Order: sequence, then C-alpha cells, then structure tokens
Amino acid sequence: MKLHEDLWQRPETDFPSSGTLEEQIRFLVGYATLAPSGHNTQPWMFGTGPDWLDVLADRTRALPVVDPHDRELTISCGAAIGLLEVAARRFALRTDVALVPDGAFQDHLAQITVSKGQQPDEIEIALFDAIQSRRTDRMAYFMEALPDDLMPACRSVVEGTGANVQFFDEGQAMEEIADMVARGDQLQFDDPRFRRELAAWVHSFRFGSRDGMSGSGFGMPDVLAPAARFVIRTFDLGNNVAAADRSKILAGSPALALLSTASDGVEDWLNTGRALAKLLLLLTSRGLTASYLNQPIEVDRLRPALQDAAGVTELPQILLRIGRSERSPAPSARRALSEVIVTD
Ligand SMILES: Cc1cc2nc3c(=O)[nH]c(=O)nc-3n(C[C@H](O)[C@H](O)[C@H](O)COP(=O)(O)O)c2cc1C
Repeated sequence: MKLHEDLWQRPETDFPSSGTLEEQIRFLVGYATLAPSGHNTQPWMFGTGPDWLDVLADRTRALPVVDPHDRELTISCGAAIGLLEVAARRFALRTDVALVPDGAFQDHLAQITVSKGQQPDEIEIALFDAIQSRRTDRMAYFMEALPDDLMPACRSVVEGTGANVQFFDEGQAMEEIADMVARGDQLQFDDPRFRRELAAWVHSFRFGSRDGMSGSGFGMPDVLAPAARFVIRTFDLGNNVAAADRSKILAGSPALALLSTASDGVEDWLNTGRALAKLLLLLTSRGLTASYLNQPIEVDRLRPALQDAAGVTELPQILLRIGRSERSPAPSARRALSEVIVTD
C-alpha cells in the first residue's frame, strides 16, 4: 500500500479488498486521520494487529492552555474513531469498540476489533461519501431556515453514541449563548499564553507543515497566515473581520448545535467525538457545514452559565454553528499515514 497519497482524494476503489484484514484496517486509518482536531493538532497515533486497531493519544500534541485536561484532545481522537467506524461500514466491516481498554495506560484510548459485517445501508453510504468533503468552514453562513427534517436526522445519527445534541435557532437562549461565546473569546484573547499557543499552530502550508491551520482555511490567502489568528476562534464576516460580539455571531449563524454528555470523563469525551464525527458527516451529506464556538465550554467559569442558558442538565462538550456557506474551503493539512501508524 502506498503511504504518501493525498488522503482527501484517495479513491475508495483503492481499498485492498483482496488484502489481509490488517491491510484493510490500515487503509481505513486514512479516513480516521481526516477527523477534525483542536488547532489541527491531529493528536492521535494508531497501531494495528491482524484484526484490530489501537487508538492512542499523542499528548506531545496537547494544548495545555486552551485544553488543560486534554478534553478536546480526547474528543478529537473520538472523532477519528467515529470516522473509522463510518468508513469500516462502507466496506461491509463490523467494528466493536472497547474504550480505554487498558485502564492503567490512559493513553490507550480505544481498541477496535474489526470483522466481516453486513452490507452498508443508504445512510451509512451517504455518511461515508461525506468524509472527504467535510470541512470546518469559518465563513458567515446564509441566514436561511434549515430544513425541517434536519434536526430529527441529526438526533438519530448521534443516537446510541452516549452524547446528546440540542439545537438553537432563535430566541433568548441563542442570544445568551452568543453573548457567552463573545465573552469567552475576549477572556481567552486577553491571556497572552492563549495567544501564544494559538499562534504556534497557525502557520503557512508553504513551509510544508502537515498540521496546524493555514490562513487559507480562514478564507484568506495563505500568505496572510498570521492575521488568521484573529478570525479563527469565531468566524470571518468577510474582509477578515472577526465575529467577536453577539450581534455579529448571530448575523452569520442560522443555528447552533450543542453536544453534551451526562458525565465528564475520558469515555464521555471519546463518545462526544464519535457523535461529532457522525453529526458533521450528516450535515455535509445534506450540503450544510459547521464551525466551532467552544469558548464558553473552554472557559471554566462560563460552562455552568452555558448549561443554564441552553437549559441542559448535561455537560456541554462541543458548540457548533451550522448552516450553508457559499463555497467550501480548501482541505486542511494532514500528516502522512507513515507518521501516525506505529510499527514495532
Ligand atoms: C475538539 C475540537 C475543538 C475545536 N475548536 C475549534 C475552535 O474553537 N475554533 C475553530 O475555529 N475551530 C475549532 N476546531 C476545528 C479545527 O480547527 C479543525 O478541525 C482543524 O483545523 C482541521 O480542519 P478541518 O476540520 O477542516 O479538517 C475544533 C475541532 C475539534 C475537534
């Protein structure tokens, strides 16, 4: 199997259908690495066996300021697991996921056993088909009502993951949440350590980096990468103006979606990531897109306030804005499979 292909464009016909199960699993890892991750750190490593895949946290890629407990790092790895589950189904494979299977070794986040399964159904194929076109899209979205059947479809796609999704598209709750995003953003940017950590992961692809975020991901020419820092945390209202207050956030976000879980441990974070992956794929398959407004979850003292405003008893994990945008951004960088698959 070639290891240096462009994973965003690799055709599914490359799947080694007559290869060993381990070769097939390694092929599936290529889809897992297309998962979203905080600051595009790609904080994962994978190990394969004859019929299993180990997912490991790469904590050298942690973001200690914005994510001191590795909560978002773990969610990112959960999203990689979610994409792998979706990809496996496309090729009629079954996955059994054991989370944190080796309690003493917390970096071992999951072991996924893979076996022959049933043919995929229509929804499973649609989710798979969205993997390579999913993007985090930070542009302002069209202010139009989302299709009536979208929210039930989103609820059903995350059902059984252990995470819940709730939507906001009007009213006081939405305004209060937008207010908290703006406050969280301000508090974070006032912290020089936060700014330095973010800056360290915003860099130009021209220097050949295969992680982090490029200015082009923010709708600006890559050469302007340093300026992108100022639009990254909310979104770009055009001319690189950041949506940094409530009215601007509301002006470009027809709806918000909140993922939350009953408790706040490693398994909840992994399940949030699995739910996030499926939710984003469903949105993509319907011509919609999303970006993140996680500030009030990341700032400890705003998290309970967000819970109140959203009227949820569960713990908020990921806050998205969702909608339809004019055009899709370029794909973000990914490390090669040879860098993320551990071989002994
Ligand atoms: C847990 C998590 C937190 C994220 N937080 C933010 C955020 O606060 N602001 C933002 O603009 N993007 C955020 N992102 C999106 C990442 O920056 C994005 O996934 C990454 O740059 C790769 O780009 P892609 O999603 O288009 O593949 C987050 C992603 C994850 C999984």
